[in-house]
Amino acid sequence: MAALCRSLFHGFVKGNVYRQTSCRSGSSVRPPLSSMLAAASCPELRRLSVEEPEVFWGSVARERLRWIRPFQQVKDCDMSRGKVSWFLGGQLNVSVNCLDVHVEKHPERAALIWERDEPGTEVKVTYRELLEMTCRLANTLKSHGVRKGDRVAIYMPVSPTAVAAMLACARIGAVHTVVFAGFSSEALAGRIQDAECKVVLTCNQGVRAGRLFDLKSPVDTAVKSCPSVQHVFVSQRTTSPAPMGKLDVQLEEAMEKESAICPPEPMDSEDMLFMLYTSGSTGKPKGIVHTQAGYLLYTALTHQYVFDCQPGDVFGCVADIGWITGHSYVVYGPLCNGTTTMLFESTPVYPDPGRYWETVERLGINQFYGAPTAIRLLLKYDESWVRKYNRSSLRTLGSVGEPINHEAWDWFYNVVGDGRCPVVDTWWQTETGGICIAPRPAEQGAEIVPAMAMRPFFGIQPVLMGEEGRPVSGNDVSGALCLSQPWPGIARTIFRDHQRYMDVYFKAYPGHYFTGDGAYRSPEGYYQITGRMDDVINVSGHRLGTAEIEDALDEHPAVPETAVVSVSHDIKGEVPFAFVVLKDDASLEQMAVLEELRGLVASKIAKYAVPNHFLVVKRLPKTRSGKIMRRILRKIAMEQTDNLGDLSTLDDPSVITEIIQAHTHYKNQHKKKKN
Ligand code: WTA
Repeated sequence: MAALCRSLFHGFVKGNVYRQTSCRSGSSVRPPLSSMLAAASCPELRRLSVEEPEVFWGSVARERLRWIRPFQQVKDCDMSRGKVSWFLGGQLNVSVNCLDVHVEKHPERAALIWERDEPGTEVKVTYRELLEMTCRLANTLKSHGVRKGDRVAIYMPVSPTAVAAMLACARIGAVHTVVFAGFSSEALAGRIQDAECKVVLTCNQGVRAGRLFDLKSPVDTAVKSCPSVQHVFVSQRTTSPAPMGKLDVQLEEAMEKESAICPPEPMDSEDMLFMLYTSGSTGKPKGIVHTQAGYLLYTALTHQYVFDCQPGDVFGCVADIGWITGHSYVVYGPLCNGTTTMLFESTPVYPDPGRYWETVERLGINQFYGAPTAIRLLLKYDESWVRKYNRSSLRTLGSVGEPINHEAWDWFYNVVGDGRCPVVDTWWQTETGGICIAPRPAEQGAEIVPAMAMRPFFGIQPVLMGEEGRPVSGNDVSGALCLSQPWPGIARTIFRDHQRYMDVYFKAYPGHYFTGDGAYRSPEGYYQITGRMDDVINVSGHRLGTAEIEDALDEHPAVPETAVVSVSHDIKGEVPFAFVVLKDDASLEQMAVLEELRGLVASKIAKYAVPNHFLVVKRLPKTRSGKIMRRILRKIAMEQTDNLGDLSTLDDPSVITEIIQAHTHYKNQHKKKKN
């Protein structure tokens, strides 16, 4: 039936809506859940998922996952207390569900295609081989003292070894925390310290866009301040030898010595699977905790139904495993579904802007999932970079991480997809575990409205909250996006800080999960995400807290105060803009100080966090109670000074004129430099 659904997909354009023809008629008697799911079916299923979540999720969990011990209770949740538990009493092993079950059926199917930086040098790893690698790595961790519940940091770019490292942790019940390999050694150290990791896995070097970069030395620097670390495993990505210290273990050599069989650890549904640090509007990055069964089930189900992914498909998500998209849609979702998943090591423009589409042709990719920032970059080049490659294997195109503007959506749909592949704009977060709002084009009668995330997934109940903190009803309305029912993929806590989890997600609207995003509900009842409502900014689809950047800048001795806001950028979406107050005696050496500030952010966080703009000001606008009014600064930075909004709480309004003048001067200097 799913195939029938697909073959009936015409994607014809009606007004501004792309509609799929219906493939089955409604029925008054509810068919069994398994056949409804197999048919990628109907509104009835969605109704069931929100009205009778126990029936829906219980049945899907029994059908889709292999359990070591069946669960006794589907859920025990109370959002007002931040309590979320699914599949209680059940035991399973995530690596078994991602590997062993497929090895039994199709051992020689490719699990991974590692699309290495240099085009045409891809490496295929079958399910049998990946299970073997995972077991050897799991045994290596075990023989170096890693036990169930221990935390393991993975500071590696995407590769089969990195995926095996994640699955090896799952195999023995250790908890991985992948740290994006672009983060600085200080950011890495902060995460290792917070998680108290016992070991770190890294590579000697990384390779990207034809350039080599060092990974071992940032790890060496980081572990100096991390007393919990007992071993550093170093994988050899390139031939360059890495100097080995007393903590270091050469990973491939150690794996060679181990058995290729490792019995899976039985894990309770609610044991931790991994933690992933993400930025919030205040404080340090938070260690978001995901658990075993609910997370796996949710990623597998969303992966199949949003992308219409079928067994044997080649799924091409270009995200790095350092982000949640890499966890859910490069590793766990696709592998749980027995798909072949691509690991993309390169960039969209290496060696030229045709790289993605050349890869699609060479690997026969069926679903392509990427970020709007890359699409915005690529559409600036001639269409021939796309057209010269055969993209007939593509069936679904996906977008994630930030709003996709109409121009990017149209180019993706018409140029990349030749107007025949539905584009799914998928909204979700590190905290939601998997996609929450997205079109599901394989369903009967499904339509796609450009640049809209549109439809809640099974079990997701969006609510828009108005200013008085109450839900706004009806359509054609906007509000703060909350989700009012628990779903299996939601994060369970912030590592060792459940109070912060409560405060950040459940305090603003008691009993509801607050996403931090605003949304609009269209007259048809579809959702469109309007952007963050807090001080989190989104640079090329990567989350950053403005407070994190301010903290880094404030460490400079010549800088008493800063305020960072976001401004729009035509490719990156948003970039940070820093307003900096300097001590009097520092104004003479302004240029040198600003250079040092750039260095500080790069070394404390990452290069991508360095503000694109620095404006030195004498004072910052504050309320009478001393709070910086970032809202006004953002308007000034965005040159929207005609309407600065309510200034009545401002302590000294003359500061505004001062800052506007400084900004005008800054802009003029910029223009001069450009000319
Ligand atoms: C934003 C990435 C608009 C949003 C999976 C969210 C989006 C944050 C979309 C989470 C989308 C993600 N449309 N905005 N389709 N997808 N966002 O945790 O602001 O890195 O809150 O997870 O990205 O970022 P995170």
